[in-house]
Amino acid sequence: MITIEQLSKVYHSKGKSVIGVDDVTLNIDQGEIYGIVGYSGAGKSTLLRCMNVLERPTSGIVRIDGIDLMSLSPKELRKARQSIGMIFQGFHLAMSKTVLENVAFALKASGVGRKERRKRAEELLVLVGLDDKANQYPAQLSGGQKQRVSIARALANNPKVLLCDEATSALDPNTTKSILKLLQEINRELGLTIVLITHEMEVVKEICDRCAVMEEGRIVEQGSTYDIFAYPENELTKRFIQTVIDFQIPEEQLVKSQGTIVHMTITGELAGESIVSDLLQHHDIRGNILHGKIDYIQNQALGMFVMELTGDRSEVERAIGTLHDKLEEVEVLQDAGTADQSMARAE
Ligand SMILES: Nc1ncnc2c1ncn2[C@@H]1O[C@H](COP(=O)(O)OP(=O)(O)OP(=O)(O)O)[C@@H](O)[C@H]1O
Ligand SMILES: [Mg+2]
Repeated sequence: MITIEQLSKVYHSKGKSVIGVDDVTLNIDQGEIYGIVGYSGAGKSTLLRCMNVLERPTSGIVRIDGIDLMSLSPKELRKARQSIGMIFQGFHLAMSKTVLENVAFALKASGVGRKERRKRAEELLVLVGLDDKANQYPAQLSGGQKQRVSIARALANNPKVLLCDEATSALDPNTTKSILKLLQEINRELGLTIVLITHEMEVVKEICDRCAVMEEGRIVEQGSTYDIFAYPENELTKRFIQTVIDFQIPEEQLVKSQGTIVHMTITGELAGESIVSDLLQHHDIRGNILHGKIDYIQNQALGMFVMELTGDRSEVERAIGTLHDKLEEVEVLQDAGTADQSMARAE
């Protein structure tokens, strides 16, 4: 649905050039929810604004539903933009218009008659759960309700794509959840393709089918949300994941430890199996869970455990061998006795 090829955007200001987006190639499929994460200044908004040519790329190609947006005349581009809705962190509502008028206004430019505009706006307000607020003004609404209005407005022209720039960043966690749920419903019911940019990995985990991580204008890693969480490769990706699933072991715990500390990722069907208890039953070792969680990402289980294994060194090694055979991700964080040695050195 969205094809981006070797897209770059360079800003020139006060004789200096700043790279906003650097050689990004990306394909977003029809009907998926695609997340783009990155810290401030990574180039997320620039990339998103290039997708509807609010920002004209310096080089590269942007195609939406097969149409090369850069090749269009201004008039054609205005028309093409009607199939691309957009919502923002700051809502961008007209404060002097009622909720209904805000939504109906989006249909004016596309030549829809007054009566029809009103009818369609009323339907959209039902869709976002705000039909009882039709005659109120934005100032009378909460942040979550304002974002619902802007979603209704963005959907007015039956877009194929919805671009969301930090749409939940100004909202509290509960309101964020309800807006994400609404976006998910819209995605499923209308088959709308959604691109969602955020600096919160939790948002990606909640609703994105696939995602990309951006740094300094580039995409450093991309994949299905499940794989990104289960097998992150880039250091930045790992840092983002740690904000949601933190498996850092406190230094004092590591120093105290007598055993071998292993981190294991148990994916898919295996997460429901008794990998840990089998391990302890079949090997003459003891296991102490230091961290453990089974999370569900896109309805697929993802288990993460950090365990301290103690016992005869060769038996512990055999147990780790068993884990390697069964699991894709097993990492020894600290060998048995390492803490003793480092303490001895310190003394
Ligand atoms: N209009 C502009 N003129 C000059 N430089 C710009 C302009 N817009 C963005 N930039 C620069 O491009 C880079 C990417 O900015 P962008 O706004 O895309 O980042 P972002 O990932 O959306 O950040 P944030 O999370 O803070 O919104 C930054 O270095 C920024 O300073
Ligand atoms: Mg931004």
